[in-house]
Amino acid sequence: MSPKKKSAYTVPKLKAFSTTALDKAVLDLIDALGDEAQAAKMSLDAKGFRDRWMARKNGILTEVNEVWLKTAPASAKREVGKRVNEIRAKVEERVEEVVKTVEALAIYGQYAANTGKGSGGAVLDDVLLHKLDTERIDVTLPGTRRLLGAEHPVIKTMNEMVRVFRNLGYSVEEGPEIETDYYNFEALNFPPNHPARDTQDTLFIANQESKPLPERLLLRTHTSPVQIRTMKKMKPPLRVVCPGKVHRNDAPDATHSPIFHQIEGLAVDTDITFCDLKGTLDHAMKEMFGSSVKTRFYPSFFPFTEPSADVQISCIFCGGRGYRDGGPCRNCKASGWIELLGCGMVDPNVYGFVDYDAKKVSGFAFGMGVERIAILKYGVDDIQLFFNGDVRFLQQFA
Ligand code: PHE
Repeated sequence: MSPKKKSAYTVPKLKAFSTTALDKAVLDLIDALGDEAQAAKMSLDAKGFRDRWMARKNGILTEVNEVWLKTAPASAKREVGKRVNEIRAKVEERVEEVVKTVEALAIYGQYAANTGKGSGGAVLDDVLLHKLDTERIDVTLPGTRRLLGAEHPVIKTMNEMVRVFRNLGYSVEEGPEIETDYYNFEALNFPPNHPARDTQDTLFIANQESKPLPERLLLRTHTSPVQIRTMKKMKPPLRVVCPGKVHRNDAPDATHSPIFHQIEGLAVDTDITFCDLKGTLDHAMKEMFGSSVKTRFYPSFFPFTEPSADVQISCIFCGGRGYRDGGPCRNCKASGWIELLGCGMVDPNVYGFVDYDAKKVSGFAFGMGVERIAILKYGVDDIQLFFNGDVRFLQQFA
C-alpha cells in the first residue's frame, strides 16, 4: 500500500461549535501550518507560504475569519474569536520563521556556490534544515555577563598611598625596572665595590662584562633610582612619589619575595628640614593606619641620605602596648613598634650627580615597601599570597 498523499488544506465549514469541535478544527489547521512551513523551507518559497496564509484577500487567516467567526452563533463568538487570535499569532510566528530560514538558506547557497563547499544548489538536507531551525540565535536574550575584575590588594594599597601624597601636592614619576648600575647604585652614592652594595641582593643581567660598570644592566633593587632620573629631568622645587616594582635575590618565604613593590618619595626645595620629613611621614602614616597611630624615627644608614632614619609606627595590633590577649604581641615582638620604612635628608653628594647646588637646596627622601604596608593593613600572614593568584584570597579585597 503506497502512502496516500495528503491533499492541500482547506478551511472547513464548522458544523459544531463545542469546545471539542473547535479544538479539533484548530489542531487540524496548526498541523497543516506546520507541514506547509516545512515544505516552504524545502522549496525556498517564503513568499508563496506567506501569501497562502496571510494574503489579505484570500489567505487562510482571512478565510478563517469569514468562515468561522462570521458564521458562529452569538453564544460561540467569544470562544471562536479567542481561537482565531491564537491561530493568527501562530501563523505570524511560522511565517517569520520560514522567511528567516529561507534567507539563511539563500546565504548558505551563495556560500556553497562561491566556495564549492556544500551542495551548491541550496537544495538542503533535513539535517541542515534541522540545524537552522534549532540553532537560531535569539539576539534579544541578555548576554553573558563577564565578572568585573577588582584591584589587586598591592595595587590598591599603592594607589591609596599615592593618593595621600597627591593630596599634599606631590606628582607621580616612574622609572624602568631594568636599570643601569649607575642609577641603581653609583649616582645614589654607592661607589663601585663599596660594601653598602651588599645590603641589596642584586639580580644582575648576564653577559654585561664588556660594558663599563655604570652601563651594566640589573633589575632595580629599589625605586630610589627614580630620584636621580627625576632630578636630572626637573629643577627644584620638586615633590614626587615614584611607585613601582623592584627585585631582589631573596628566597621566597612568608616575609620575603624576589619581586615586591615600593613607593619612593622625594621633596627638594631651598629650605627643607628634617622637621618637614617628620611631619610629612607622620601625616601619611596617620592617613594610612588611622589618626591614633604614632611614629618614631630611629637612626639608620643609607648611602644616599644623611642623616638617615627608619620609621616605626606604634603597633596597630596591640595599640603600642606590646602585649595583647594576656601575652606578648606577636606582631611587634612585644616592642610596641613596627618598622615600616627608610628615609633621610638627601645626601649632598647625590646633588653632585644631578647638577643641583648642594649649598642652595635641601630635601628629604623616603622609600617604603607596599606589600609590608598591605600585610599590616589587611592582616595578611604570608607575602606569597599576593603573588599566588588564588582567587579566594584576592576576592576578599574586591
Ligand atoms: N631605597 C631604600 C631601600 O630600599 C629606602 C630608602 C628610600 C631610604 C629613600 C632612604 C630614602 O631600602
